[in-house]
Amino acid sequence: MKELLADTAARAARYIHELDRRSVVPSSESIARLESLGGPLPDNPSDPKDVLALLDDVGSPATVATTGGRYFGFVIGGTLPAALAANWLAGAWDQNAAMQVMSPVAAKAEEVVREWTLDLLGLPASSGVGFVTCTTMANFSGLAAARSALLQRSGWNVEDDGLFGALPIRVVVGAEVHVSLLKALSMVGLGRSRVTVVPADGQGRMRPDALPPLDEHTLVCIQAGNVNTGAFDPAKEICARARTAGAWVHVDGAFGLWGAVSPQYAPLLDGVNEADSWAIDCHKWLNVPYDSGIVVVRDPEHLRRALSAGDAAYLTQSAGREPWQFTPDSSRRARGIEMWAAMRSLGRRGLREMIERNCRQARLFADRLRAAGFTVLNDVVLNQVLVSFGSPDQTRRVIAGVQSDGTCWCAGTQWQGHTAMRISVSCWSTTDEDVERSVAAMIRIAKA
Ligand SMILES: Cc1ncc(COP(=O)(O)O)c(C=O)c1O
Repeated sequence: MKELLADTAARAARYIHELDRRSVVPSSESIARLESLGGPLPDNPSDPKDVLALLDDVGSPATVATTGGRYFGFVIGGTLPAALAANWLAGAWDQNAAMQVMSPVAAKAEEVVREWTLDLLGLPASSGVGFVTCTTMANFSGLAAARSALLQRSGWNVEDDGLFGALPIRVVVGAEVHVSLLKALSMVGLGRSRVTVVPADGQGRMRPDALPPLDEHTLVCIQAGNVNTGAFDPAKEICARARTAGAWVHVDGAFGLWGAVSPQYAPLLDGVNEADSWAIDCHKWLNVPYDSGIVVVRDPEHLRRALSAGDAAYLTQSAGREPWQFTPDSSRRARGIEMWAAMRSLGRRGLREMIERNCRQARLFADRLRAAGFTVLNDVVLNQVLVSFGSPDQTRRVIAGVQSDGTCWCAGTQWQGHTAMRISVSCWSTTDEDVERSVAAMIRIAKA
């Protein structure tokens, strides 16, 4: 075992070391070689060392260098050194994070991360928190809590009796709602099509003047950080309206909520802490390994009621916080460990600097591309940049060229009738030199 782990560590270190020199995308030959992972399942056992060697030799070259500094697709962070190392150690521990009795260390890490996260993001200190796989599941969990609370007001217990026969909940979303929020609505039985859609402005922000009348059976879903523009829905105004009407506000803050750690960007989130539930992920901007998200609910009881499993004679219940009472899963890995390591290694200042550096690098991209004659379509308020290189066909040609070139990687999008390349700067290891190299590649490809 010792030798195997040392060999694995050496292989992993080599991978990370070589990231900067390799193409961001794997070659077609590397992808073709993946076939050698398949074939019939061997009849006999293999030496774990040989298994690892095969995985590294064939698997490593076929990865996309998303953990490197020049991957700007979707919203993908890398993995901080302390988070990666903690992930290995936690893997060796093989802890089940469901219950205190199964893993005191996993439960403690969650408690600490719960406190630190609420403090860092300025969310109510007594909130309930669940550690889930991603923002989609954090949205799901927050909406389940909202559903439970809103129906309880009319004397309906949705956990016991389901949705049939319950008073309808009116769901309000912005025109730029993220598709994962709609998926979460569909999974909690609120439906993705029966929503009231509030028009958005030119940056994708929900227009508060166009909100429908709200009441105590309404769920308003707002967004902190639009996946295309990085823009924030005007939380202050919307939360104030909702508070007066007794409506519930849920915030999809996948990456944008991390802006709250910086005094420079916190004003964009003004009023966001007045909401009732929040979804955040950590595998994006906190830069921990996949899969890692957090749901926060102002009143912990709503989250617990929505997600707890009930009793079984063989399952113990301690006096403290039982992690599995706040997540859709029961057994799961101890993802709180990596979050703890990431936060502990960065500290408040390190986290703020990482967020501010990525936002500054997004502006650097925008400035350089504008100076080269291309059009930046959004106000670069956070870490997202939308660029048009001319006609839709020309922009698509540049995106395809950038993707195959391998210097960096960006994907495309449609933004309010325009074809655009999306640049999302979310990785701790991205340097200004990475940005300059990437810009140079984009300009070279666009002008070819
Ligand atoms: C605003 C927003 N919500 C939700 C998601 C989905 O996140 P996840 O893939 O972690 O479920 C994203 C992903 O980029 C996002 O930007």
